[in-house]
Amino acid sequence: MDHLIEMKSICKDYELGGQQLQVLKSIGLRVDQGEFVAVLGPSGSGKSTLMNIVGCMDRPSSGEYHLAGQAIHNMNDDQLTQVRNRQIGFVFQKYHLIPQYNVLQNIIMPLLIRGMKGAQAKQQALGTIRMLGLDDRLLHKPSELSGGQQQRVAIARALVGSPSILLADEPTGALDSKTGQEVLALFSKLHREGNTIIMITHDLNVAACAQRIVRIVDGELFAQAGEQPMGA
Ligand SMILES: Nc1ncnc2c1ncn2[C@@H]1O[C@H](COP(=O)(O)OP(=O)(O)O)[C@@H](O)[C@H]1O
Ligand SMILES: [Mg+2]
Repeated sequence: MDHLIEMKSICKDYELGGQQLQVLKSIGLRVDQGEFVAVLGPSGSGKSTLMNIVGCMDRPSSGEYHLAGQAIHNMNDDQLTQVRNRQIGFVFQKYHLIPQYNVLQNIIMPLLIRGMKGAQAKQQALGTIRMLGLDDRLLHKPSELSGGQQQRVAIARALVGSPSILLADEPTGALDSKTGQEVLALFSKLHREGNTIIMITHDLNVAACAQRIVRIVDGELFAQAGEQPMGA
């Protein structure tokens, strides 16, 4: 069977003051449809760099990346943007909601960007809003919501277009532990409902909520502590 995500020998280098900095070192990663995978690693290990490549926000320096059978590493910027808008739902530590927009406007935005008609977009957004229990907050601005509610709005916005992957970078990092647990419970529920989730974290307790943990250490990916790098 084809994997939803298949990365082979992914490297990412940055040039800093005339020096090559190798941030990702021949990473191999396979994720199947419906998996919930945590990428666990300390600060500076390359988690966000990897997330940016998985999410088609950045290109690897070398290596191959296939997403749902498409060769991402050969795509130009316009093609990458298309894939990103249609197939990836992003959730960030700091929510990244648009402050002037209310809950409905924030959640409907990705559908309008895709060119969906207003009435249909509203129907679809309201369905997602109901699913996430945000019905009674439709007209609230982000500043009128708690951190946990803002993150739920961000998750709704990520999911509204039915992406292939939900990609979350430290999604509980700005929340207290109880609210963080609620967000993790929501991810578990979304996983049970069939969504594919990749969650990035430095916190083992957070990673433990996933179905599978891979570790990133100094730009190398490992299936388990003490194993060979997943570079194949
Ligand atoms: N645009 C960039 N230019 C140069 N170095 C970068 C850039 N982005 C990240 N890095 C470096 O890459 C390493 C990994 O960063 P990052 O992926 O943000 O780690 P993490 O998310 O695990 O904390 C760090 O040493 C960081 O300084
Ligand atoms: Mg990071």
